[in-house]
Amino acid sequence: MLMVSNVNLLKKEQNVSLLQLQRRAWDYLRAGASNGRAPFTVMQAATIGRRGAPSVRAVVLRHVFEAEHLIDFYTDVRSEKTAEVRADPRIALVGYDPEGMVQLRLEGVASLVTQGADKKRAWDASRLHSLVLYRTPLSPGTSIDCPDDAYPAQADGHGTDVAGYQNFCIVRVSLKTLEMLDLSVPAAHKRARYSRTGDEWTGQWIAP
Ligand SMILES: Cc1cc2nc3c(=O)[nH]c(=O)nc-3n(C[C@H](O)[C@H](O)[C@H](O)COP(=O)(O)O)c2cc1C
Repeated sequence: MLMVSNVNLLKKEQNVSLLQLQRRAWDYLRAGASNGRAPFTVMQAATIGRRGAPSVRAVVLRHVFEAEHLIDFYTDVRSEKTAEVRADPRIALVGYDPEGMVQLRLEGVASLVTQGADKKRAWDASRLHSLVLYRTPLSPGTSIDCPDDAYPAQADGHGTDVAGYQNFCIVRVSLKTLEMLDLSVPAAHKRARYSRTGDEWTGQWIAP
């Protein structure tokens, strides 16, 4: 009897820790998406390349909606990654905090927000210098003679009638799994994986 209750107690403690680790993961993501640089502001986003090969690049985390299990980053609708997401919406992201020694891995399904109020808000809130490249008539990845050729002749404001607005979009990722690897304590690494079904997240410790 005592043994059983000890086991239950142990399980309970483990559950609390799993929950705490999950909270930390969301805190990290929220900090990454807030203004200013944080360890998870820039994450690596991997898609399935159109010829089936992996395709990965850095992106800036812009919004985190924990209740909806969503994260956003922005991109150009003409970019290779948007074509890849249209062909196969599965996406994975990874980030690492070298000071905290924490890795976060995310998996989900991406959709492109190419119009509507959320896109308009995102456009209006963006700094003008970060919108410049959306205005160039050249699609990202076009071969050019020199780097300056990529820039538009003149700067525009936040108007939505400018070409850049059409090229700008949000990549919205509906998260399905979240994995945290904490290497901060030597010889006591912690790795936990959280999977979502509907609004329910289930956590599981896994061997690092
Ligand atoms: C620090 C950093 C942040 C970046 N953030 C973004 C971003 O938020 N969105 C984006 O489309 N590209 C971003 N890029 C550029 C991409 O990594 C990539 O070069 C570009 O989007 C083209 O990728 P693609 O050809 O796979 O579409 C960033 C690059 C760096 C180095």
